[in-house]
Amino acid sequence: MRFSRLVEVACLTASLLAAACGDDNQSGGPGPGDPPGNPPGNPPGNPPPTGTGDPCRDIPALPAAYADWPQLAPAIGKDDAIEAQIAGLVAKMTLPQKVGQMVMGEIAETKPEDITTFSLGAMLNGGGSWPGNNRADAASVWRDLADSFFAASPTIDGVKIPVIWGIDAVHGNNNVRGATVFPHNIGLGAAHDACLAQMIGAATADEVRATGQDWAFGPTLAVVRDDRWGRTYEGFSEDPTIVRWYAEAAFKGFSSLDPDGKHLHGILPTAKHFIGDGGTTDGTDQGNNQHSEAELINLFGQGYYGALGPGGGQTVMISFNSWNDPTPGAAHPAQGKIHGSKYLVTDVLKNKLGFDGLTLTDWNGHGQVPGCSNADCPQAVNAGIDLFMIPARADLVAFIANTIHEVNLPASDPRHIAMARIDDAVTRILRVKARQGVLGSATPPSQRPGATDAGLLHRELARQAVRESIVLLKNEAVLPLARPTTKKILVVGNGADSFAIQSGGWTISWQGADVTNGDVPAGAGETILAGIQATVGADKVDTITHPADLATVDYTQYDAVIAVVGETPYAEGQGDITGSMTLGREAKYPGADVKAILDAVHGHAVPVVTVLLSGRPLWVNHELNQSDAFVAAFLPGSEGGGIADVLFRKADGSINVDFTGKLSFSWPKTDCETPLNVGDASYDPLFAYGYGLTYQTQASTVPTLDETQTAHGCNPNTVNTDVLPILNNTGAIDPYNLYLGADPNFNQLVEGPGATLNATVASSGDVMTVTGSSTLTVDLQGDGRRAQWTGHGFAQIYMQQVTASQDLSGFRDNDGAMVFKGILNEATTAQLTAQFTCGFPCRGVVDISALLGPVGAKTTFKIPLACFVPANATDPMDFSIVNAPFQLQTTGKLDFTFAEISWARHAAKDGDAAVCPTPGVAIPAP
Ligand code: BGC
Ligand code: BGC
Repeated sequence: MRFSRLVEVACLTASLLAAACGDDNQSGGPGPGDPPGNPPGNPPGNPPPTGTGDPCRDIPALPAAYADWPQLAPAIGKDDAIEAQIAGLVAKMTLPQKVGQMVMGEIAETKPEDITTFSLGAMLNGGGSWPGNNRADAASVWRDLADSFFAASPTIDGVKIPVIWGIDAVHGNNNVRGATVFPHNIGLGAAHDACLAQMIGAATADEVRATGQDWAFGPTLAVVRDDRWGRTYEGFSEDPTIVRWYAEAAFKGFSSLDPDGKHLHGILPTAKHFIGDGGTTDGTDQGNNQHSEAELINLFGQGYYGALGPGGGQTVMISFNSWNDPTPGAAHPAQGKIHGSKYLVTDVLKNKLGFDGLTLTDWNGHGQVPGCSNADCPQAVNAGIDLFMIPARADLVAFIANTIHEVNLPASDPRHIAMARIDDAVTRILRVKARQGVLGSATPPSQRPGATDAGLLHRELARQAVRESIVLLKNEAVLPLARPTTKKILVVGNGADSFAIQSGGWTISWQGADVTNGDVPAGAGETILAGIQATVGADKVDTITHPADLATVDYTQYDAVIAVVGETPYAEGQGDITGSMTLGREAKYPGADVKAILDAVHGHAVPVVTVLLSGRPLWVNHELNQSDAFVAAFLPGSEGGGIADVLFRKADGSINVDFTGKLSFSWPKTDCETPLNVGDASYDPLFAYGYGLTYQTQASTVPTLDETQTAHGCNPNTVNTDVLPILNNTGAIDPYNLYLGADPNFNQLVEGPGATLNATVASSGDVMTVTGSSTLTVDLQGDGRRAQWTGHGFAQIYMQQVTASQDLSGFRDNDGAMVFKGILNEATTAQLTAQFTCGFPCRGVVDISALLGPVGAKTTFKIPLACFVPANATDPMDFSIVNAPFQLQTTGKLDFTFAEISWARHAAKDGDAAVCPTPGVAIPAP
């Protein structure tokens, strides 16, 4: 185990992160003033400068470790006039008006008339939700909808209370066609330039004002500790020092606070996702953060101190993840879902940190609190959440009614909500609106300063950001390239001419994977290929897209090959690396294609320059071996021309722009080297945090790297036992819960932590009930669960774990079967499918109607895993990431009692196992 000297010194001389320094687990952070550097044995880089006197680039050291959550000094102070005005308003509002202010609708379902009817407080558009439901909607269409929201907003006691509209402007105003798309935060972190972060914040605010919104759901302040997390690219760094430094700068840029410290002139940024989103176990999105409170305070909290203190932040989005402090004797263990944690939301954020702005849920995040649904959650209100993001209109309407009902319950009722809590929420919402300058304003969004199409043009700044955010990892005296004179440049790779791949998720649509070059109007961006063509002349560039065509190329006509390769876009959990995947072998990286390309272009006496587009450090040892120069470009966004600015010399042969980017994430040496973070006790990266070459200081040669891959995935959740129990006579077996599901998006927890099935649970559409009681028996007293489908619509029961998945490939590979017992209670013609899901909509399906057996007889179902097939062409099936190992689904009328569910190896070979001659075809009767 090697120990970085720098960290050793830091740990000896200061108490910062005492826990992290003292223990030998993976979760340490850097010490105070610990300059990023390379441990011995790593190729030399050029760590970012400190003490240069350049305030844009000198990273301020973190203060000494906090023993408790620090009291912040918010940049926006309380204003007596504002406080008096909102107190007067709150006193005049009715309970329904107050609760309406606490709710945020989504533009697809919630309409201007709903804003009037319910006095709604806020609106959002989710990723991929556009005002005219058209991805090409012009800025004016966005402004028109904003105006109609404004017009529909309530006037109470003579004061107009406009809704505030939030949008996921997370790398520019990225939902809007024609907006500038800046590099994702992972690249900005590599720039080590807080002034750049501030300018981009201000530019993004301009772009959001141009389309009429008030509020951006960003920047993400995650301190990302496990790069398997699909949201790694939304974070600035693995190091809280950078996150805190940038949070302050970005927030100042977004909000543009006026000199008297009372109002914002920009837009509202959001500090998200509070707290610990980047620290979940295995990097699972919406998963479980199991770090100590000291680490929550000193590692994951740092961005919030920058954003909510000097940054003047007014809004905080609560995180989907859970927090369970594993420390023996911890003061606040087992908080579970943060949306239900009064300790974190009220005691910590509002009281200890002193935050006086508003807290909001993430997308139905309250519905994940045990005992809650999207339509009802007094637990989250009482935890201290002020504003509820409820995208489905029906849920929103029900939530308002339920919350009003709960205020009216007697104080002794556990679901009671005190009026004082409601008043606190509304006061905070109105306070933010007043500080933002919209409370009582008569000016519709389209008439506000900057609400014009011209606000969408920040291409030069974005191109500068591209130049600053790319990191040179390897350069065997190849770069910078001379401009070709007699020969040409060959450009290859999936990312060369693709706005989608260079921009990543949260671009035009949520996932970003469906983006085409046609989504970017002329003049609003450039692919990397187009940038190269513009720099050296289109006649000096050839491009080949099909790897097969590379075999016949005459390489003597080229000065160099530029291979632009990368991940295909993803957002949120869809980018998680789970199951059998690794940092080098993941669903979003076309590794085989990349290998084919680099193997084809390598070895022709023509230098190969690889530009990697990715949302996180990837294990690319083969790619590095096959390249003479290698650039980590992350997700640069719409200004692909910034790449050519740095790769090519000027026409006179001098250097045009040098590299300045330095890694803000450690780069792995092996394909499962994660978590990997600067300050780890056994830190041994390939390229250390802070690494990055320049043209001035040439590195020593990168030696040939080991290409040995992990056979199985990095996910430790591989189940190797012969039997995986899922439900037995004692109930749902951890980590599984029993759910009832029906359209649209109705999922009801039936049994598991926080819900014990001893009665009837029904779906909202009355298509299904699930009943259990101590006398409902299949084999053992009380083991039965009775599912009754009414035949009035689609519904399902399923066993699922919420936060993680398991690699169950071993069951498939060893003649496994899904096993359960059941009794058919009534004759049926229903078609019944058995399914498992691998992160819905990924799933395997097989029709088992013919196995139902005679009414009243107990049947043992053993369904060979080999019988399951993907649900359809677009929803794949993956046994390595199973999250719901049992699901029964029908639209028909069916009454069935089931019990004792498991997966068992070898059971497909049993004499009583079902037989499916053709997988996926309805299993015939035995
Ligand atoms: C994400 C948030 C986002 C919200 C609204 C959620 O799924 O976690 O980051 O702001 O959706 O689109
Ligand atoms: C539901 C998902 C759920 C899945 C479980 C789907 O029909 O919509 O929310 O996770 O079933 O298999």
